[in-house]
Amino acid sequence: ATANIGVVGLAVMGANLARNLASREGNTVAVYNRSPERTHTLVTEHPEAGFVPSETIANFAASLQRPRTAIIMVQAGKGTDAVIDQLTEVFEPGDIIVDGGNALFTDTIRREAAVRALGIHFVGAGISGGEEGALNGPSIMPGGTVESYETLGPILESIAARAPEDGTPCVTHIGTDGAGHFVKMVHNGIEYADMQLIGEAYDLLRRVGGLSPAQIADVFTEWNEGELESYLIEITAEVLRQVDAKTGEPLVDVILDRAGMKGTGTWTVQNALSLGIPVSGIAEAVFARGVSGRTAQREAVRPTITSRPEPVAIDDDFVEDVRRALYSSKVIAYAQGFDLILAGAEEYNWDINPGAVAKIWRAGCIIRARFLNRIAEAYDRNPELQSLIADPYFAGEVAEGDAAWRRVVAVAAQSGVPAPAFGATLSYYDSLASDRLPAALIQGQRDFFGAHTYGRIDRPGVFHTNWSGDRNEVEL
Ligand code: 6PG
Repeated sequence: ATANIGVVGLAVMGANLARNLASREGNTVAVYNRSPERTHTLVTEHPEAGFVPSETIANFAASLQRPRTAIIMVQAGKGTDAVIDQLTEVFEPGDIIVDGGNALFTDTIRREAAVRALGIHFVGAGISGGEEGALNGPSIMPGGTVESYETLGPILESIAARAPEDGTPCVTHIGTDGAGHFVKMVHNGIEYADMQLIGEAYDLLRRVGGLSPAQIADVFTEWNEGELESYLIEITAEVLRQVDAKTGEPLVDVILDRAGMKGTGTWTVQNALSLGIPVSGIAEAVFARGVSGRTAQREAVRPTITSRPEPVAIDDDFVEDVRRALYSSKVIAYAQGFDLILAGAEEYNWDINPGAVAKIWRAGCIIRARFLNRIAEAYDRNPELQSLIADPYFAGEVAEGDAAWRRVVAVAAQSGVPAPAFGATLSYYDSLASDRLPAALIQGQRDFFGAHTYGRIDRPGVFHTNWSGDRNEVEL
């Protein structure tokens, strides 16, 4: 046995992760793939990696030092279960199986329990950063036992991205069993919200502001110098600057306007609904992708909507207004995402440190941003923070951009440009800012038709008005 870590599944993500591991001091990497051709290609193309290849799972296990540690990098779903079955046959108690795919956290909880029963550790690890991140440094969100992290932690730290602020590796033990995959799921939900908000900002700058894609690219490049600095803003500028070779048009104008999705955003919203956490920024982002994909409906309905408003006149501050709106909406979307992480932690008994999550998202992952450092600072200031927007820094930022944010949402509505995520996040903010919500009226309605009862502001207890009779109130 010569290798200290193994990778099973050598498609692009697995191959890149294996190369990343091999490039770090102290690692010798065993590799295995179901079809041996792929193993052969990887090993031949990268002699510098010093891979230890195997054609059978038994040889793969034999090539690993104890405790054996293997990272599975296969398409999430049935394939993962098949590989786990294979590995558990050749692994022994104390060994560690890591699933680095985008698994649904409830599957991870199930798998962890089954594998633990054999005395083997099972770690569901969210890995973000795409192919490039896998090769050069991803952000890694491992769950599983504390004990497994003692072996796995240093290996993952060796390959993770490093935060630009302090050089710390972007990996931390998130919590037990499915905690890592839960947090990766929320990362992806936030990714959806971030992308949608950027999309809305672009659409407003274009359709209301009258800017060209190239001009908007410049705006984003400038924004990337300030608080909005992030990978997604940076790549947005690059996409907008790209010209289609065939037509000479901006590429963005020849790409079909139907957003695909593989499901993690939907999972985020489904779980938020189950836990009763309003993640309206993320939900609107998922819905917006849904609307975009309903091509037949869009084509059928569009001609029937004849009352289209003219874009309203805007002033010189419009671009700055949109920047402020984007920042405020982003703060809300992240605040909601962190609410969901904390609600998940409570529901599933995970000891998740939200500040540590913000820290490991500062580099490597798709939502990496300067802003994440601010979030980490907010949780450092107050670990019991009720909402990110209750933090003095974020409260101040949002308050300062308040008027701009409202102007942008109003201009969008008046101009007929959809801005669902801008609008939903502003409404959420106003809900939290409101002294009284119309929920009181809803309680009245519920009590009227279903005797569902209500509480009173002036004394404790449960009350019902005898709506169908004398309309007197009774205390129950
Ligand atoms: C990441 C990405 C990655 C993947 C998304 C894309 O963190 O590296 O989130 O996991 O690119 O799943 O998601 P959609 O296909 O649903 O947009």
